Amino acid sequence: MSFIDEIQSVAGTCKSVNILLWCVFGFGVLKLTTLILRTLAMLFDLFILPSVNYAKYGAGKGNYCVVTGASDGIGKEYARQMAQRGFNLVLISRTLSKLESIKTQFEGQYKIKVEVLAMDVAADDSSNYEQIKQLCQNLPITVLINNVGQSHSIPVPFLETQEDELRNIITINNTATLLITQIIAPIIRDTVKDKKSSRGLILTMGSFGGLIPTPLLATYSGSKAFLQNWSTALAGELSGDKIDVELVLSYLVTSAMSKIRKTSMMIPNPKQFVASTLKSVGRRCGSQERYATVTPFWSHAIYEFVIDETFGVYSKIVNTINHSFHKSIRIRALKKAARKAKK
Ligand SMILES: NC(=O)c1ccc[n+]([C@@H]2O[C@H](COP(=O)([O-])OP(=O)(O)OC[C@H]3O[C@@H](n4cnc5c(N)ncnc54)[C@H](OP(=O)(O)O)[C@@H]3O)[C@@H](O)[C@H]2O)c1
Repeated sequence: MSFIDEIQSVAGTCKSVNILLWCVFGFGVLKLTTLILRTLAMLFDLFILPSVNYAKYGAGKGNYCVVTGASDGIGKEYARQMAQRGFNLVLISRTLSKLESIKTQFEGQYKIKVEVLAMDVAADDSSNYEQIKQLCQNLPITVLINNVGQSHSIPVPFLETQEDELRNIITINNTATLLITQIIAPIIRDTVKDKKSSRGLILTMGSFGGLIPTPLLATYSGSKAFLQNWSTALAGELSGDKIDVELVLSYLVTSAMSKIRKTSMMIPNPKQFVASTLKSVGRRCGSQERYATVTPFWSHAIYEFVIDETFGVYSKIVNTINHSFHKSIRIRALKKAARKAKK
């Protein structure tokens, strides 16, 4: 090879290295720009944009909001805050006495109408769905909040999960949610068509248990992950009918289900959680990468955002940390049960 050939070959290599460096630089700039834009979008959603106006969902015009699992915890708070916005309510839950006392309280306090239906949706009885249809078919319903849900009584290895617990979780979280939506969504569509409201809304309670695969809560985790895909698919199907469909993601909230009573920066009470949800409907907050999904509470949102932007929800490291977290909860729960049994 002559000296000239050698120089040309080195120059060729340098050119390729240059192009490669420019590509890496361009990719880095693109990644950084999208990260900055996503961070800004999250901060705007969480802290700057004003609350959603529920006039578009027919608030204050005699329209109804259906809430499942409405007699306690997050569901009761959804009912209260929708009543404050001027919606009449249909409340569905297990315990009639709790529902009746909420009806008396809310009708007096918020001057709205409240219908109640007590049923155990774990029974998966077709007569339950017939009752819901009978009660709701002639009401101007514009909002459905699919809140009812059940988790494991304590974290448990999948292979040791009792059959009735497994069946109840799937029946309550999935079958009941789907069948109730099949009854209520057409009623919302007709109410919107009749121009009693310009849009309809279907919210479904997801969970970080479904966002992040959760060892020792495997069945609950799977049931909530199911709701993510179902709800997002439904959002596509119903957008043409002017119905907004959204999955609501939450980390822990104080309630009977979570068995946590003390609030903290990461754990709001139902009032704080629901206020953040209803303020943010239609926005993504911490779920910047997910269509028709919102993670509304600020610390949950930042937590999800950081996981999404670093290891990812399906990574081994996140799975391992989650596993040891739930192992320690199981150990404490078993010790508590043993102490109770001794007494
Ligand atoms: N709390 C959390 O940390 C958390 C976190 C993420 C997601 N979530 C989700 O948020 C939703 C509400 O949870 P929560 O913590 O508010 O629960 P909760 O305090 O235990 O309240 C559950 C509500 O559902 C009703 N319910 C339960 N089983 C039922 C059944 N078989 N048939 C009819 N109604 C039934 C209960 O009725 P009774 O009062 O009559 O029993 C109660 O009104 C669930 O979907 C849950 O998965 C909760």
